[in-house]
Order: sequence, then C-alpha cells, then structure tokens
Amino acid sequence: MEMSYTRIEVRPMAGALGADIYGVDLAKPLDDATFAEIERAFHDRLVLFFHDQRLTPEQHLAFSRRLGPLSRSPYVKHMDEYPDIIAVLKEADERNISTFGNAWHSDFSFLEEPPLGSVLYAREVPDHGGDTLFANMYSAYEALSEGMRRMLDPLKAMHSGRPYGVGGVSPDLKVSRSIGIERNRPEADREVAHPVVRVHPRTGRKALFVNAIYTTRFEGMTEAESKPLLDFLYAHAIRPEFTCRLRWRTHDLAIWDNRCAMHYAVNDYDGSRRLMHRTTIKGERPIGVRP
Ligand code: SIN
Repeated sequence: MEMSYTRIEVRPMAGALGADIYGVDLAKPLDDATFAEIERAFHDRLVLFFHDQRLTPEQHLAFSRRLGPLSRSPYVKHMDEYPDIIAVLKEADERNISTFGNAWHSDFSFLEEPPLGSVLYAREVPDHGGDTLFANMYSAYEALSEGMRRMLDPLKAMHSGRPYGVGGVSPDLKVSRSIGIERNRPEADREVAHPVVRVHPRTGRKALFVNAIYTTRFEGMTEAESKPLLDFLYAHAIRPEFTCRLRWRTHDLAIWDNRCAMHYAVNDYDGSRRLMHRTTIKGERPIGVRP
C-alpha cells in the first residue's frame, strides 16, 4: 500500500525494503508528528537512510533514544566517553582481516531480548566500498512454500554470541583491532532459543529469524542435522529481490529493524579508513507463531 507523508519525504530505494528520507534534521529535537511519520516509514520500509546529517555524539544518542532505551553488547567494547556507542572502525593499514558484521545477521540475536534495531552514523567512509546490504525477512518468509512455512512455524533455533560478530571464521582469526572484541564472555557464549518464525510486535507480520553469524542449530537437533536446512534458509533469505544496498557518504545515518531485516557489512575497502558510530536499541523477547 502506498503511504502518504506530510512531514518527511520518503523515497523507496528498492522493491523489498529501504528508503531515503529527506526533509528532516536529526540534530534538532523532533516534534511528535514528524517522529510518528519516521516510525511509520520505519515499519513500512525496515531500513531508513538519512543524508548529510551533522550530528554530535550527543545528538546521535538523543535521536536513538527517541526509538527506545539503548542496550549495550556483552562482547563489543563501547567508547570510553560514550558508553552507549560502539565505534565500528577499520583503519587504513588493517588488511586481510575480518571486520565486524561481515556476514548476514540480525544484531546480537543471541540475547534473550535481542535489539529492536540499530542506528549507524557514518563519521568517515571510503570513497567507494564499505557498503551495507540489507535483506527483508518478511519477504523471505512469505516466499517459502506453504509446506515449508507450516514446518518452520512451530520451530525454535538456538543462537550464540560465540562467533563474536564475525561468523564463519575461526576464533583465532584476527578481527579489526579497532573494534575491541572481548572473547570468552559467558553472556555471549551460551545458547538461547528463539522462534524460527518471529511475529513482529508492531506490524503483526511473520519474519524468518535465523542468521548465519549467530544461529547454531534448531532446538532439539544437532548442528549437523540442522545445517542443510539452515544453509537453505540463509541462501533463500538473501535473494537479490529481497535486498537493498546502502552506499555511505560521511554524515549519512541509517536505522534498521533487526526483528524483520538482516544486514551485511561489505569488507572491500582495504587501504581506506572507515569509522561508523553505532547505537543499539533495546528489544523484547521474540514472539513466535501461535499454534
Ligand atoms: C553492523 O552493525 O553489523 C555493522 C554494519 C556496518 O558496519 O556497515
């Protein structure tokens, strides 16, 4: 359904999700009517991209808090002076290393209450490269056959933070030294069960909720038993038709909904510095499909 807006301009960037937002200055406090339109666009497009926003860390934090209380991660070091901000940084001299978020995922899905969303602000980005990709997990779910949906609806899957944001790589591989990952954190290493199909608390729509970094297996099954179906779901969920791509410029800001979108930080900019500031919005325990 085509939505109408009077306070902001919303330009969809791809068929499945994502919108460029114009006509708003996030450095200033937002009136309720403007914020309500941003929220409506957020629930409709899942990923919103605001351009040329000149924000201090305090203004970034103030806008983030409009979306909800902030949460901190069990294993990523926060900034000393801003404990609610993570600096996602890769220095120009860091080559052939793994970077944070460089596999499809929903942020910190291993928490009992995974984050509602994140707010990422570009402080310094390469001339080209360092894009972030997103995939719509409602679309992924809805495109499955009826038989597959019926089978997945009651299932739960286990999630663990042990890969520390760099899924599919050995714990010994070097991760960007700048991101400050702390390993062997009991809160990140344990497994937590979440519904495989999650009902969004605001839209009521069903979304696939498994991801390649943090999901380890289906509840009650081994990793080997789970792998073929999980691999199928991961490949299915990122079909190009379900995705959009953000090409960052310094001072751009994105917000995304972790409950119904996955994302992937492309690590293709060796030789350039990339510094992003991320805040994370607290979420609730995922609700599954009622039988
Ligand atoms: C992340 O939050 O997963 C990182 C996203 C990015 O650096 O583009």
